[in-house]
Amino acid sequence: MNSENKASEKTILILSGPNLNLLGERDPQMYGDQTLDQHIELAERTASQHGITVEHLQSNHEGELVDAIHQAREKHAAIIINPGAFTHYAWAIHDALQTFDGPVIELHLSNPAAREPWRHTSVVAPVASGTIAGFGGHGYQIAVDAVSELL
Ligand code: DQA
Repeated sequence: MNSENKASEKTILILSGPNLNLLGERDPQMYGDQTLDQHIELAERTASQHGITVEHLQSNHEGELVDAIHQAREKHAAIIINPGAFTHYAWAIHDALQTFDGPVIELHLSNPAAREPWRHTSVVAPVASGTIAGFGGHGYQIAVDAVSELL
């Protein structure tokens, strides 16, 4: 399928990496008290205003995220990914995203650049159309708006 067909379908894949299933309980000072489901609901509401449908997968396993990116090549117009800690070292995710034709948005709740030095490297950023970081849950809305502009 070419990218024109994919764009006309207007479905996007949101991928959530490890430990994001614990949002709401995990370090609320850093990540807020909202759950991942609440963030995805915001993304879905925003997407529907743009006539876009969202699919979401959370996984704690790198290979599962790689498989989902491969499947997205035939199915989705864009990917929004919060890779969690995989951001900083998962080159298999970098390589998989590089094979994807459409827009890729890297999304973080916190601002990794303002945290520990090991979080300053992103292996996803070089294959992303752009990065949204540090806006908490509002980032999900910003990311979907950005995708809508890019499609
Ligand atoms: C995160 C930032 C990463 O450094 C961290 O490992 C996460 C969450 C964020 O959304 O701020 O798990 O991706």
